[in-house]
Amino acid sequence: MNSKIEAALNEQIKKEEFSSRLYLSMAIWAEINGFPGAANFLYKHTEEERMHQMKFVHYVNERGGRAALMDVEKPQDKFDSLKDVFKQIFDHEVYITGSINELFGLANDEKDYTTANFLQWFITEQLEEENLMRTILDKINLVGSDKAGMFHIDKELDILAASQGSSQQ
Ligand code: FEO
Repeated sequence: MNSKIEAALNEQIKKEEFSSRLYLSMAIWAEINGFPGAANFLYKHTEEERMHQMKFVHYVNERGGRAALMDVEKPQDKFDSLKDVFKQIFDHEVYITGSINELFGLANDEKDYTTANFLQWFITEQLEEENLMRTILDKINLVGSDKAGMFHIDKELDILAASQGSSQQ
């Protein structure tokens, strides 16, 4: 595997690891701030990011490269509200989509079509993740500060977490 591609994939391993830690930090916040459904959803999402990280790890190694772990910064652990949490998740997923797109562009520039093909799964996944987070954020914006509305959203997130659990790879 081309060393440029290997280095870029290893950077992505770090980003997926950070995503997992960021969502874990958010899950902890949600759990101790009275949002058990959101906490379940975020704990599940932490595992999903770990699964993304592992996909990259195995891919780099299978292609004859070496997956490398790097220092990962401590994620934020204070949030203003559940809305703040989901706004930050949405922004973070947009950032990750940009990163995957750059990787895809690099793979094509380097004529590494096997890596470009591998990245297709992530391109589809990012579209789904952005849509999911946008939908949740829209609902939170809609209820505003209405407590009953927030309670309902938390219940919905709990149901979503249960369905994610059964569909996880
Ligand atoms: Fe690994 Fe949420 O994207």
